Amino acid sequence: MPTLSLNQVTIRYDGEPRPAIGSTSLTLDTGDFVVLTGRSGCGKTSLLNVAAGFITPSSGTAGIDGRSITTPGADRAVVFQNDALFPWLSARDNVSFALRMRGVPKAERDRRADELLERVRLPKAGGKAVWELSGGMRQRVGLARALAADPDFLLMDEPLGALDALTRERMQTLLLDIWAGANVGVLMVTHGIEEALLLGTRVAVMAPDPGRIVRVIETGFGRRYVAGEPVRSIKADKDFIAGRAELADAIFDGEPA
Ligand SMILES: Nc1ncnc2c1ncn2[C@@H]1O[C@H](COP(=O)(O)OP(=O)(O)OP(=O)(O)O)[C@@H](O)[C@H]1O
Ligand SMILES: [Mg+2]
Repeated sequence: MPTLSLNQVTIRYDGEPRPAIGSTSLTLDTGDFVVLTGRSGCGKTSLLNVAAGFITPSSGTAGIDGRSITTPGADRAVVFQNDALFPWLSARDNVSFALRMRGVPKAERDRRADELLERVRLPKAGGKAVWELSGGMRQRVGLARALAADPDFLLMDEPLGALDALTRERMQTLLLDIWAGANVGVLMVTHGIEEALLLGTRVAVMAPDPGRIVRVIETGFGRRYVAGEPVRSIKADKDFIAGRAELADAIFDGEPA
């Protein structure tokens, strides 16, 4: 079972007097759903970018099972807020793009892409052009494309941030369904307090100056959804309501109201 670890990572951007991230450690196993949250500018994206291999830490190490992360790799798929699909390709061809690069024959990659589109609840969208898809649908195609490479880790930076509230709620359960069925470790950034609580097996709260993890809250609400409990009943649970207040306090600790 692969483990992604960030050990005492610091990030110092060129020309900046202070480090953006001060010595921060984080471990993610397959089966974990770790949510990174915290105020704007506290370093969530920076930390995720280290895990993705887009940024090399100034000190400390990032690795998977002892192998150092130095570049992006097929073992880690990344999904951004506005996923850049290729507008000249159909939904199916966007999803199967990585397979085409690997030389998988067309019939096989079409089959695999349609299977993935079904998993993101877009069973009939394969032939559609990107401009024919809604924002939520595009994000689902992006997710299917990320899963096509069969990654060990799914790294997502505010993947639902640009969606309307109703679509966002439906996407939250979709993410849980995908996580439960895919044998991946998820690292996801969000500003949504309820979203963090509902989805994460662990919520890491970051604070700025320098960016670091100041609080880790173990949660089990997503597992309850996966085990069959409706979201409505989970959100009405007094533990969920108390967790929401605790998480908000942790995020805004020290901030003037
Ligand atoms: N390429 C860069 N060069 C210089 N400074 C940067 C760079 N990228 C980020 N920073 C700085 O590092 C700090 C952390 O930024 P980061 O984008 O990681 O925060 P964030 O928590 O993702 O914020 P948000 O919630 O707004 O997305 C900020 O002070 C930001 O200005
Ligand atoms: Mg960010």
